[in-house]
This record gives sequence, C-alpha cells and structure tokens, in this order.
Amino acid sequence: MLQTLKETVSWLKPQIPEGTKTGIILGTGLGDLVNNITDKKEIPYEAIPHFPVSTVAGHKGKLITGKLGGKPILAMQGRFHFYEGYSMKEVTYPVRVMQLLGFEYLFVSNAAGGMNGSFQVGDIMLIEDHINLFPEHPLRGKNHGELGERFPDMSEAYNKKLRQLATDIAGKHNIKLQYGIYVGTQGPTFETPAEYHYFKIIGGDAVGMSTVPEVIVARHGGMKVLAFSIITDLGVYGKIVEVSHEEVQAAAKIAQPKMAFIMEEIIKQL
Ligand code: HPA
Repeated sequence: MLQTLKETVSWLKPQIPEGTKTGIILGTGLGDLVNNITDKKEIPYEAIPHFPVSTVAGHKGKLITGKLGGKPILAMQGRFHFYEGYSMKEVTYPVRVMQLLGFEYLFVSNAAGGMNGSFQVGDIMLIEDHINLFPEHPLRGKNHGELGERFPDMSEAYNKKLRQLATDIAGKHNIKLQYGIYVGTQGPTFETPAEYHYFKIIGGDAVGMSTVPEVIVARHGGMKVLAFSIITDLGVYGKIVEVSHEEVQAAAKIAQPKMAFIMEEIIKQL
C-alpha cells in the first residue's frame, strides 16, 4: 500500500499549490462549498493513479484545488463510502494521500440523522466526538510506523481549538450551532426507529454512514480534524418520517451555505 500511496502522491504533488495544508471532504449534498473556492482547478478521481472512483448520485468525484478564505486548500467533492463496497483502505485512501502531502488540517462534512430531541432538520451539528460502529476498522492489519502509531490516541479526535474557533465564529455571526456525538454506521439502510433509539441510548446525537473512518486515519496520521453534520432527518420518536436519499440531499443543500461560511472563516484564521 505504501508504494501505491507514494505513486499517487508524487503524481499529485506538482498539481497542488505550494503551501496547501488543509484538506476538505464534502458530504452528501454539501458540494456547493466549492463555489466559494477561487483559482479553482479540478482533478477528476479517474485521472489520479490508484485513486478509487465514486459511484453514488450527488457525489461528483473530483479533487478541487484553489483558495478558500484566501488560503490554499484541497477539497474532495465526493467521498468513498463503505456501503458502496469499498474496503476501509479505499475509503480512507484520500486521507492518507493528504497526510503524505504534508497537510495539517482535515475538515469533514456529512449529512446525518438526528437523535437528539432538541435538533431540527437543517441544523448544523459540530461533531465533538464519535462512536465507531463500522464492522471493520480502517487501521486493522499491519501498522506502518511511517504513517502512525499502532495504538493511536483518540481522546481528542475532533480538535478542541478548531471547535472553539467554530463556536466563536458561529456566535459572532448569529449562526445556530448544535453540538454532539456522531455515530458512524455502515448503512446503507437508514435506521429503524428502534435503531435510532439505541444510538441515542448509547450516547449518540446524530448518525450517519461516513466520516468516522476518515477521521480515524487522519488522527493516526497526526492531522487536526474538524467535522460538521448537517441534520437532514430526525430519528426521534414521534418525529420519524420516511426518509430518502433525495430528501437528505435537499435538506443538506439548505443548510450548507452556513456551514461553508463557518469553514471558510476558520480557514482564514489558520
Ligand atoms: N441515518 C444514517 N445516515 C444518514 C441519515 C440517517 O438518518 N441521514 C443522512 N444520512
């Protein structure tokens, strides 16, 4: 895997603007952030040696370089989900690439169902911590010392300083921010009412099918992480209605300008 990674990185490196240290992974229906990127250059996943290719509707599948908030960034429009059949190594491959490109920060967004009774559809939840319920761990197997430690610490998976910055910016601009624990599950089914209830009992505020693998690998690689969930549907007794991928995308679209604003303001200050 290391050799493959190195080949991807040496192909990509000349195309990534000097000084880029922030990677952004855009979740379902959250791709509009790219409209705020200036000096944009797109690299389709198909063009990148050894890169997986994404398949789900609403995921366009390209890397975008450019500037956000005046700072050079690399955004992934379209991520790789475990439910699509990718291995955990494939799901997290782009994060390894970012690590080997020398990036310091990873910003992640996703669409999620809310279990917290005070959440509403369209809320933005700052992820404070996660519970990993994926059936396979992205770090399972031989550990490569040059990528990270065998037993990585997860006491601050979501960087405290970045979270504080997000809180400050949201407060200053009157943007409502919710806070909570993200439960990462494999999907692709949305939850039964009993499953939402179970995820709430174990300490979750929102549930989704992504993010956790990428965050684990980013932390293993020493990157600082900030992540947001857009609450696109509610898994709260009495408020549970049928959900579809299209509705999730539509709800995400409404909230995304606010999330994009917060991300951009934080990046300005990095
Ligand atoms: N469950 C799991 N994943 C999701 C949900 C949900 O309710 N909404 C958006 N992604």
